[in-house]
Amino acid sequence: MSTYPDLSSKVTLASLARKKRQGEKISMLTAYDYPLALLVDNSGVDMVLVGDSLGMEELGFETTLPVTMDIMLHHTKAVRRGTRRALLVADLPFLSYQVNADEAVRNAGRLLQEGEAGAVKLEGGVAIASTIRRLVDAGIPVMGHIGFTPQSVHLLGVRKQGKDEAGAAQVMADAQAVQDAGAFAVVLELIPDALAAQVTAALSIPTIGIGAGPGCDGQVLVTSDLLGLRPERAALKHVRQYAQIGTAIADALAAYRKDVSEEKFP
Ligand code: KIV
Repeated sequence: MSTYPDLSSKVTLASLARKKRQGEKISMLTAYDYPLALLVDNSGVDMVLVGDSLGMEELGFETTLPVTMDIMLHHTKAVRRGTRRALLVADLPFLSYQVNADEAVRNAGRLLQEGEAGAVKLEGGVAIASTIRRLVDAGIPVMGHIGFTPQSVHLLGVRKQGKDEAGAAQVMADAQAVQDAGAFAVVLELIPDALAAQVTAALSIPTIGIGAGPGCDGQVLVTSDLLGLRPERAALKHVRQYAQIGTAIADALAAYRKDVSEEKFP
């Protein structure tokens, strides 16, 4: 398999489905603004995610819960301008789809119509399956998100899901419900590796893992984590840091300040 990305063709739902059938791994990364979207898209990843993790990573909130539709639209529009080839997926934020399916269709539609996203992502399994069906029936591609679901952090805590027999059965039922409702892919977050591999084998749609081991059809990471943008934050267990950008920026800023105070710049 080539290590060079094929940048010639746009990623579509069909090309993602083909990758699953052919056993080719799928890659996805977050972006929240135009310059990073350009870099992420040019890297050749299959999908760019405007995740509601931007609440923590970009806006300094403690959780994803304060993120609103207006915030998601603002960032999705910026990322759209930098994304030409990858499939652009935008998160439906907390309370934009849980109240009822009509609101979900309206808000998901706005992410496609105004934000020009190619698909939306929402959290939940069995409990949200009828809403996924309504969105898909309205022509909106949906990615599911099960296991640890950050919008339910106050209910779940930040901890691995599906660890005991009942939990594993729930994750499997959620995965099946999301697929049956018409989702084109599903994120598996923070579940045991073996369970993720079982879910992946059971589903015909691609599974995209984060903290779910190597047995998924693809992987997603928060880009600022893999770049080491926030040096004060220890690397999470499921993250591999490919750079220490935060330290490089801090060094550059300190060097500038020193040069100005010592009259070496300009
Ligand atoms: O918001 C986000 O970045 C996500 C990923 C962690 C999957 O949902």
